[in-house]
Amino acid sequence: MASTQGAEVLVASNRGPVSYEVLEDGSLSARRGGGGLVSGLSAIGPDTDAVWVCAALGDGDREAARRAGGGPLPAEDTGGQRVRMLDIDASVFADAYNGIANSVLWFVHHMLYQTPLEPVLDAGFRRQWASYQAYNRAFAEALAQEAAEGAAVLVQDYHLALAPRMLRQLRPDLRIGHFSHTPWAPPDYFRLLPDDIAAELLTGILGADRAAFLTRRWADAFTDCCHAVLGPGIPSGTRIGVHGLGADADFLRERAHRPDVDERMAALRAEIGEGRRTVVRVDRTELSKNIVRGLLAYRQLLEDRPEWRERVVHLAFAYPSRQDLAVYRDYTAEVRRVAEEINSRFGTPGWTPVVLHVKDDFARSLAAYRLADVALVNPIRDGMNLVAKEVPVVSDEGCALVLSREAGAYEELGEDAIVVNPYDVVGTADALHTALSLPLDERAERSKRLAAAATALPPAQWFLDQLGALTG
Ligand code: G6P
Repeated sequence: MASTQGAEVLVASNRGPVSYEVLEDGSLSARRGGGGLVSGLSAIGPDTDAVWVCAALGDGDREAARRAGGGPLPAEDTGGQRVRMLDIDASVFADAYNGIANSVLWFVHHMLYQTPLEPVLDAGFRRQWASYQAYNRAFAEALAQEAAEGAAVLVQDYHLALAPRMLRQLRPDLRIGHFSHTPWAPPDYFRLLPDDIAAELLTGILGADRAAFLTRRWADAFTDCCHAVLGPGIPSGTRIGVHGLGADADFLRERAHRPDVDERMAALRAEIGEGRRTVVRVDRTELSKNIVRGLLAYRQLLEDRPEWRERVVHLAFAYPSRQDLAVYRDYTAEVRRVAEEINSRFGTPGWTPVVLHVKDDFARSLAAYRLADVALVNPIRDGMNLVAKEVPVVSDEGCALVLSREAGAYEELGEDAIVVNPYDVVGTADALHTALSLPLDERAERSKRLAAAATALPPAQWFLDQLGALTG
């Protein structure tokens, strides 16, 4: 089954390193993404013929996958990386990605359900589950085809929880790792899932030689779920690991000092106004990020401590995410509504209390990082949260970090952050006040320590460590 020229290292993830758009003239335009896996694969060097298997996500991707005819995408689109994009039937993909991965597994691990009415795990859910199985099987088969004898395969995230076991059955010779980029749910919450499906997810991941997580807390939750659902002991002998992905300091610092970032700083300064402090947040508009309660906490601050009125601006960048799902669209609308409400309640002719931007602009995010006095990172639950790590690295004069204790980053940054319970709006308002009031020298000291902790495990090393632990 192994191809004769198979790859020694393979990565599998739902979202690949490149995405395509069909232009009006019918041609395809490719756009490359970043992130830990991209840096990791470039770190293993150009001579390693690593292969990245990913899914076609939209029409442009599907067209590119078809043109590639089951082979690799054109190297000029991928920066030389060998990428195989799977053209999975659009309705199977939609059920697996939107239906199961994003509406069930994401909700379980981030504990997002309003449980009196959801989840409803009915016959429709079971049909979508069959698509999730088919989607995972498509990945397992592609990986089995692409891998050399004894190759290392790093399977990523909750979209692909079943693939390790499926791949193990097809190719017992491979060394398989699974990495979860999300939190893992505690057993009582995980067991909202039907028993057979809970067991299938766990045994799916246990098909890997090694299952790794971003923090010890999520790794322990996974083992607790295995014990609760499957009985004591990890039946397969799968090893459990922790790799706390850090910020890429070299990349960020260089990128944050290019002219486009300077231009955006000037524009933001004009929006903020002379002599004001800034509270910055940058997120995908994601239910787990807790943007609405962040705004409510800021409103509470202005309510309780009038001395901050006119003296602070909240820069809230909330970029579109998963807009196929109605609940994400509704959440986006609520973010806008609350921001507008704060502006009409407190705003004055010379002062806009909340500056909300919803159009994704990386250079502007970096500009906001550089000038932040306070970074607000208050997720309900988060695998890691790289914004918490990136802001102190990029900040020009040091910033204070208000950080949720439910973010994975809390394990590494908790000591120098101002820590909040993300549900406690009054507590978060107090934390904003404390953060805004920190003496500048203390703030700079803390920020330095935060930046050091945030960069302890850069993306390339994070990837190499996983590979080493699997193959060593
Ligand atoms: C999280 C997940 C990733 C995912 C990303 C963006 O970080 O762990 O696997 O790619 O969100 O979500 P999206 O659904 O747009 O790929």
